[in-house]
Amino acid sequence: MGCPLLRNTLAGLILVLLSKGSDVLGAEFGHLPDNITVLEGESVTLRCRIDEEVTHKAWLNRSNILFTGTDKWSLDKRVTLVNTSNREFSILIDKVQVTDEGPYTCTFQANNKPRITHVYLIVQVPARIVNISKSVSVNEGENVNLYCLAVGRPEPTVTWKDQKYGLVSEGEFLDITEIKRQQAEDYECITHNGVAPPDQQKVRVTVNYPPMITDMKNMPANLGKTAILRCDAMAVPPATFEWYRDDHRPVENDNTLRIKNEKTRSLLLFTNVTEKHFGNYTCFASNRLGSSNASMLLFRPGALQGRGAAGLHAGMSAGLCVWVSLSAVLLVKV
Ligand SMILES: *[C@@H]1O[C@H](CO)[C@@H](O)[C@H](O)[C@H]1NC(C)=O
Ligand SMILES: *[C@@H]1O[C@H](CO)[C@@H](O)[C@H](O)[C@H]1NC(C)=O
Ligand SMILES: *[C@@H]1O[C@H](CO)[C@@H](O)[C@H](O)[C@H]1NC(C)=O
Ligand SMILES: *[C@@H]1O[C@H](CO)[C@@H](O)[C@H](O)[C@H]1NC(C)=O
Ligand SMILES: *[C@@H]1O[C@H](CO)[C@@H](O)[C@H](O)[C@H]1NC(C)=O
Ligand SMILES: *[C@@H]1O[C@H](CO)[C@@H](O)[C@H](O)[C@H]1NC(C)=O
Ligand SMILES: *[C@@H]1O[C@H](CO)[C@@H](O)[C@H](O)[C@H]1NC(C)=O
Repeated sequence: MGCPLLRNTLAGLILVLLSKGSDVLGAEFGHLPDNITVLEGESVTLRCRIDEEVTHKAWLNRSNILFTGTDKWSLDKRVTLVNTSNREFSILIDKVQVTDEGPYTCTFQANNKPRITHVYLIVQVPARIVNISKSVSVNEGENVNLYCLAVGRPEPTVTWKDQKYGLVSEGEFLDITEIKRQQAEDYECITHNGVAPPDQQKVRVTVNYPPMITDMKNMPANLGKTAILRCDAMAVPPATFEWYRDDHRPVENDNTLRIKNEKTRSLLLFTNVTEKHFGNYTCFASNRLGSSNASMLLFRPGALQGRGAAGLHAGMSAGLCVWVSLSAVLLVKV
């Protein structure tokens, strides 16, 4: 591994060179850029061109000697000399790490004059999300706190966006106080530092709320024909539906009446309307957060609410005969 005396002499020379600084001795030679930027994990060549009569030459990482001539001082296997010739004295750093960032110096003596060149190695790391909130399910009115932790060099920006309104907030944390049902969405965390395409991930926020019956109508029906009563309810989780007649008697499927439940609504399908079908139906929608009910009539056209008032308002338009009673209560469980 070379002669210790020479090493000491060289090290002394190098330290003198370094202490004097590049403005005095840093004559421009070769074409080393001031900054070399490399991605973590890649390899990089630090070039040093020597086109004069060279007696001593060395590479340093900060003030640590990597090579003096072809003599390696560094124990790091990732650092090797490449393209060594009488014109070039370059080193290759393999699998660059973040800790490799810093000043490197090529120094040599030519025609008894010391020469020195600095290069600053910048190690970049693409922005990456390393830890992000799981999708959450909360009740309306609760607070939601999401986080999205990102790493990268340079320090990445982190923003939160939602699908409907775009930018929601900047920074790793997204706090929503007293969340409303309209704020149930996929929230997207995006991190970016200009090194590689942004990294992004979504967090689903589900907001639970009790059923709210949104659409119900009194319906006219002709004897012997078909008819439909419908009850639409918004709810998360989806509501379960029940139907009752005026006297709170549950409505059941039979050969002339079918209950059809869908995700957001329930239908009463009358296949052959008979006298006994006319009347007042109550739709009851519930989930674990509460319930809501609404009543509606299946009525004979021309009859005002059925039951004997028929003749009285015979001349009125059908529209006036239809009246809607909607009573919705939210029984929010605590
Ligand atoms: C090298 O990087 C530093 C900091 O990153 C910057 O201030 C300087 O301007 C850069 N030099 C060149 C020549 O790009
Ligand atoms: C060595 O130098 C030659 C000519 O300058 C160049 O084409 C080649 O890429 C260099 N090799 C390395 C490993 O830098
Ligand atoms: C450069 O020096 C730093 C700090 O002393 C060290 O962590 C890093 O591994 C060195 N890199 C090379 C390529 O020598
Ligand atoms: C992710 O971050 C959260 C909040 O800072 C923390 O509680 C949790 O332990 C982290 N999880 C992992 C796997 O690092
Ligand atoms: C409807 O019911 C009436 C009385 O039960 C019956 O006479 C009639 O045939 C039925 N119509 C249809 C289309 O099933
Ligand atoms: C229908 O029934 C509900 C529940 O029993 C009741 O509140 C409502 O007043 C009734 N509507 C009519 C028109 O009778
Ligand atoms: C239906 O709603 C009314 C208030 O609009 C409420 O008094 C009644 O108890 C509810 N019915 C059921 C079965 O929950």
